Amino acid sequence: MSEVLKIVGKSPPRVDAGEKVTGEALFSADILRPGMLHARVKRSEFPHARILNIDTASARRLKGVAAIATAEDIPGEPAFGGVIHDNQPLAGDRVRYLGDAVAVVAAESEKIAEKAVRLIKVEYEELPPVFDPRRSLDPAAEKIHPGGNLICHHKTRKGDVEKGFSESDIVLERQYSTQRVEHAYIEPEAVVAEIGPDGVLTVWGSHQSIYNIRAAVCRVLGLPMSRVRIVQTAVGGSFGGKDDCMSVLSVRAGILSMMTGRPVRLVNRREDSLRETYKRHPYYLSYKVGLKRDGTLLAMEIDIIADGGAYASMSPFVTWRSVVHATGPYRVPHVKTDVRAVYTNNVYTGAFRGFGSPQVCFASESLMDEIARELSMDPLQLRRKNMLRDGDITATGQRLNHRVSLNEVLTAAAGPAAWEKKRKNYPGENTGKAVKKGIGLACSYRGVALGAEGVDATGAIVRIHADGSVDVCTGLVEMGQGLKTIFCQIAAEELGIDLGRIAYRGNDTSLIVDGGPTVASRSTVMGGSAVRAAAIELRGRLFQAVSTELGAEPSEMESRDEKIRLRKNPEKFVPFLRAVTLALDRGMDLHSFSWHEAPPIWWDEEKGEGDPYFTYVYGCDVAEVEVDTETGRVNVLKVWAAHDVGKAINPAAVRGQICGGAVMGVGMGLLEEVETKEGSLRTVNLDNYLIPTALDVGGIESFIVENPDKFGPYGGKSVGEPTCEVAAPAVANAVAHATGKRIRDLPINLERVVLGRKLSK
Ligand code: MTE
Ligand code: MOS
Repeated sequence: MSEVLKIVGKSPPRVDAGEKVTGEALFSADILRPGMLHARVKRSEFPHARILNIDTASARRLKGVAAIATAEDIPGEPAFGGVIHDNQPLAGDRVRYLGDAVAVVAAESEKIAEKAVRLIKVEYEELPPVFDPRRSLDPAAEKIHPGGNLICHHKTRKGDVEKGFSESDIVLERQYSTQRVEHAYIEPEAVVAEIGPDGVLTVWGSHQSIYNIRAAVCRVLGLPMSRVRIVQTAVGGSFGGKDDCMSVLSVRAGILSMMTGRPVRLVNRREDSLRETYKRHPYYLSYKVGLKRDGTLLAMEIDIIADGGAYASMSPFVTWRSVVHATGPYRVPHVKTDVRAVYTNNVYTGAFRGFGSPQVCFASESLMDEIARELSMDPLQLRRKNMLRDGDITATGQRLNHRVSLNEVLTAAAGPAAWEKKRKNYPGENTGKAVKKGIGLACSYRGVALGAEGVDATGAIVRIHADGSVDVCTGLVEMGQGLKTIFCQIAAEELGIDLGRIAYRGNDTSLIVDGGPTVASRSTVMGGSAVRAAAIELRGRLFQAVSTELGAEPSEMESRDEKIRLRKNPEKFVPFLRAVTLALDRGMDLHSFSWHEAPPIWWDEEKGEGDPYFTYVYGCDVAEVEVDTETGRVNVLKVWAAHDVGKAINPAAVRGQICGGAVMGVGMGLLEEVETKEGSLRTVNLDNYLIPTALDVGGIESFIVENPDKFGPYGGKSVGEPTCEVAAPAVANAVAHATGKRIRDLPINLERVVLGRKLSK
């Protein structure tokens, strides 16, 4: 690496900006293939029922209908899943929620397909449904899946909580709940599947984790992985949301393409998307905390139920992240945490930015403020008193052998927010006013990358072509977070060339081996390391190629400013393109592949302890609000957000993530909820689902804290999800500061602010 970074740490414009702003980027719904058919789905009419008969006869007779698939037509296994194989793209004997599909029709037009769907008649025998996750484990509750209604149960055990409570001066018990949240990405899900004459099935789609989708397609369609190509087109946002549901769409379109030999397009309308695709898990959280009168935390006992809905999806991993992070970033000697995810007949739930942390972060950070109030202590002081520091042991028994920057992020956000002054003055200033101001904060620690429940490794290919252009490929994808630009910057840095030479190609399972999912904010730390190593390898080969011409050893060279030059005598150089030519003329291989494995970590599921992540990031949001106590309206005046990202490879991209994550968190805190009644969604389109816009958050000031980590490229860690977990509790704490009323259930909407409860329930 050059001593001074040229491109890493700078903010060049995004490499995909042009196609996005001109509208030229090709999204899946834009794809047109010759002879393409259009598909529509026949959905379940009950949240829980046995399917007795599906009559497709009159639909088949409709002119223009090419094929109708039901579960009987599935060539492979009936169901798939990231952890538990329970998700059925076409319902067989049972429907388990109102988003299930019983049949899918391919026709010459979408209109005909829609008409055919209406002609399909299904006979059901209704089964008793389960909607309340707190009742799902009752012995009397109907079993939604053969193995019963428990999806998973994770725990952490540290010390002896009973001892901790008996030594405590104060014990508090509090219940919190969080709601079902929709990803609400701009683009609803879309795929086009086409089986080629060579028997290879290609599925273009708005995919997130392309290898997960390939695994599902291969399993259900009974095809070898070598004959399935999953290609990601441009994606209009995903936020964890375009995985399982994309597998479902891909399987349905794939089967119709195999039946007809023609390309098949399946595009969800927003109504389909809301009804069918997974949401953020609603949580019911019970916290019991014991502490000394001076605020020192002694014990925490936590019990959580998560509503997994009809299918397990990512529930086992989501709730595992919750169990690890449930106490918040504090020294707690005695910890006992249990998290259970259960099946219900509600829409299923899965990965969503934060992945099980926003729920526990809301509860634990609300609790910290409740404790502070009980002790008449400043919430910031209480956190400083208990926060994890270098070398401390976490709730899972892990010693933190890196720079623990909680104090830095707290200070970075609280200082500019004028925390102390506002905290002290607002209560007095608010007296007698209908519109009251408040300021609140929340902080977090977050395990980087997949953690000990998965295998974490990924690969990268870097290729230099004869004309000096370069492409970089990994199995990780762009979905708006800026990955393409980050990876091109890293390759440009190491090869010492201009960004303009580099193209990112990593959207196709046939280009490179399985590099794992694009989740857990792991791309920069994992994929970035692989790209960097592959580029360094190629640089070394170029150094060899110019060795004679420069009359020097590779160890004396550097690659900078499009030149391979002598470090001690930069005037002596070979231009990059000339070096490429020399290498190729010698028959050298200018293609390199590098595989990056995460450092060792472990988790003992039985004991509930371990070193679940190889490193952590730290973040803090301070939110200032104005609450109209007559209307219940909460105005977020400003958010100060500080995140330790290790090293910002592209500071503008980091700031983009901080702002986007904070706004998403404010949405969860104040506005958003997918309401259901008896498994049926009241939220059928985005006209009655409010997400915050830029105008709903007065301003966001971001602070990038950099403590380079030994495991990340240039010290970089992650930022995509932590930005989303601290905003809701910061806002909740600010509302409590303004009004003196603690709201323990999300979202903190008008009714809850005014009446302390929600009108609709
Ligand atoms: N930002 C944008 N613009 N679009 C997205 O879909 N997904 C989020 C986050 N930020 C997302 C996003 C989620 S859920 C994750 S896990 C990370 O980005 C993944 O990207 P990374 O690994 O590059 O951080
Ligand atoms: Mo993000 S929820 O890990 O895709």
